[in-house]
Amino acid sequence: MTLRTLLAGASLLACLLGAGAAAAEDKLTIGFSQIGSESGWRAAETSVSKIEAEKRGIDLKIADAQQKQENQIKAIRNFIAQGVDAIFVAPVVATGWDDVLAEAKDAEIPVVLLDRTIDTKDDSLYLTAVTSDTVHEGAVAGEWLAKTVGDKPCNIVELQGTVGSSPAINRKKGFDEAIASHANLKIIRSQTGDFTRTKGKEVMESFIKAENGGKNICAVYAHNDDMQIGAIQAIKEAGLKPGTDILMVSIDAVPDIFKAMSEGEANATVELTPNMAGPAFDVIAAYKKDGTMPPKWIQTESRLYLPDTAKEEYERRKGLGY
Ligand code: AHR
Repeated sequence: MTLRTLLAGASLLACLLGAGAAAAEDKLTIGFSQIGSESGWRAAETSVSKIEAEKRGIDLKIADAQQKQENQIKAIRNFIAQGVDAIFVAPVVATGWDDVLAEAKDAEIPVVLLDRTIDTKDDSLYLTAVTSDTVHEGAVAGEWLAKTVGDKPCNIVELQGTVGSSPAINRKKGFDEAIASHANLKIIRSQTGDFTRTKGKEVMESFIKAENGGKNICAVYAHNDDMQIGAIQAIKEAGLKPGTDILMVSIDAVPDIFKAMSEGEANATVELTPNMAGPAFDVIAAYKKDGTMPPKWIQTESRLYLPDTAKEEYERRKGLGY
């Protein structure tokens, strides 16, 4: 081997090592303060975030807050101390974020809100929010019910999401507005089931007890599918047929609700995509590359699903593996 070949080999090696070092330096580290695992949708969102991070070679650190805002605030402070490139937060409730987000801003760490919004007067505290229009989701559910019921009187019971969370506030608002002009539709009971299956079932049991064994109830509107699945169980245990004796409409479009729809036990669901992290990663990559500013709101789609496609949707979603 000549000296020249040796030198060329050495310089190629140096280039490759240099490129490797640059690639390692370019690798983004993102901290994600996740709420917990209260629902099938939430578990799917966590899984999709990992899959999307892996696709892009991002080091994603997920902190599970077990439904507590104080844990989310601690996690955000930890991420700031670690000097991550960006922070994602799915805020469990809408209020109380200004101080910790101001700390992230002072540290020049961009924050992206995922799937829930916050109440703040200072929207410079976050780069963007990737969410659906949760008022619209409630409206889609309300409009479907109004159309399905027609002129008949209908007593509705409502299972609300976590108190103080943006989807619970907005899904209620959207639904209320959609049924406001239909005097025959009346919400007779409304209580939180905290977005969980167990509490959805418990609250539905108490509604059934208070409403003549469920016979006074015409429809259940649940702010998510998991509470609806709990309600389905309670209705069956009370000897009634969910989906037939009582109309069932909810939000999320998780595989289990498609299974319930294909078995005739649920009537409608409004989809919330679990892929909130994918668009958020893209925004951060562009922002880090050349300072590209995203819009303040990246809106994901909300689509109504009915039993006619339930079987195929169940199979398709099961196959996605999250
Ligand atoms: O913020 C989105 C909501 O949170 C989902 O609809 C619900 O299932 C989850 O817990």
